[in-house]
Amino acid sequence: MVRNIAVLASGNGSNAENIIRYFKEKGTAAVSLVLSNRREAFALERAHRLGVPAVYFPKEEWADGEAVLAALREYKVDFVVLAGFLVRVPSNILRAYPSRMVNIHPSLLPKFGGKGMYGDGVHRAVLASGETESGITIHYTNERYDEGAVICQHKCPVLPGDTVETLAARIHVLEYEYYPKVIEQLVLNLG
Ligand code: GRF
Repeated sequence: MVRNIAVLASGNGSNAENIIRYFKEKGTAAVSLVLSNRREAFALERAHRLGVPAVYFPKEEWADGEAVLAALREYKVDFVVLAGFLVRVPSNILRAYPSRMVNIHPSLLPKFGGKGMYGDGVHRAVLASGETESGITIHYTNERYDEGAVICQHKCPVLPGDTVETLAARIHVLEYEYYPKVIEQLVLNLG
């Protein structure tokens, strides 16, 4: 049985697209739905172009969770992937997907995580701190920002002369390489 994945994204959605393409090619799972909290999120457009249903829910619906949960059920979603999703997931949705919801964070957690640490702000903080390495953390999602159990981390160097853009690009390479593969392993191991 091929499992269905929902990807939640708030912005550009390059990870969402990468994950959709990966599973279209491999066929080991299917992205059946993309959800966003922003109507203008480019992630929705990317999904649309790839023939994946894409739905926007406003802030109130994300706070309540019931309508989102109904959509996840309608599309028979088995596993939920957060990829650049900037809204707290309500507890009714967390409860519906125990150990079936993951997030990716563009730093080596617990460093540079927590509320307000997202997007380029993470890379800016890494550069300001003088760290010589950064990377990605893939972790389960729970009620607290960036504090779910870590599944894996992958590192890259921070190089002299790096800017937010060059570091973000290096991190994205890691994300594109590892996130789909980790999701695939988890989905194939679902009971
Ligand atoms: C990624 O770096 C992800 O780790 C972070 O937000 C970024 C989203 O990029 N949480 P995109 O929307 O997938 O292009």
